[in-house]
Amino acid sequence: MQLLISNNELLRAIKLFADKLNTHYENKEVVIIAILKGAVLFLKDLYEHIDFKNSIEYVDISSYKGKIRSEIKSLPFKINIQNQNILIIDDICDTGNTLNYLTDLINKNNPKSIRTAVLLKKKIDNSIFIPDDYLFLIPDKFVVGYGLDFNNKYRFLKDISTI
Ligand code: IMP
Ligand code: MG
Repeated sequence: MQLLISNNELLRAIKLFADKLNTHYENKEVVIIAILKGAVLFLKDLYEHIDFKNSIEYVDISSYKGKIRSEIKSLPFKINIQNQNILIIDDICDTGNTLNYLTDLINKNNPKSIRTAVLLKKKIDNSIFIPDDYLFLIPDKFVVGYGLDFNNKYRFLKDISTI
């Protein structure tokens, strides 16, 4: 395993990002949708710093089996989207399939606004979705830690490392 981003760097970037969101969503109410399971630590640390009114929803979508990219498996969900400011949070955007799928679904339900934020964006050529915000651009390598797993292992690690 090789260290890529330390926990301190993550926390510093998340604080700055929270400030940006606080300005953007000032006096607004937001539905934060976190994608399980990877986004949980990002959400937790972001939550320390955000001060706009919000509610949290979780959806379970995943497209990886081990290190192999595969089809999206998702559970049906029932979240009130209509006329809401939606902020989607995920750990990483890789092919973009997950966010493409979820934003399509949400856009069909007439949100007031939609914003997508990921902690990491992988630098790949054929990504089909560019998130509105990403805190770090990383090489096309498999990473673990800070919520990101390999077969459900290594999520608990404080830093992000390549494996
Ligand atoms: P996408 O649909 O290809 O953009 O992939 C997004 C999802 O795949 C993320 O929410 C992660 O759960 C998972 N994923 C993508 N790359 C990695 C990685 O390097 N490590 C761990 N999980 C990853
Ligand atoms: Mg995920």
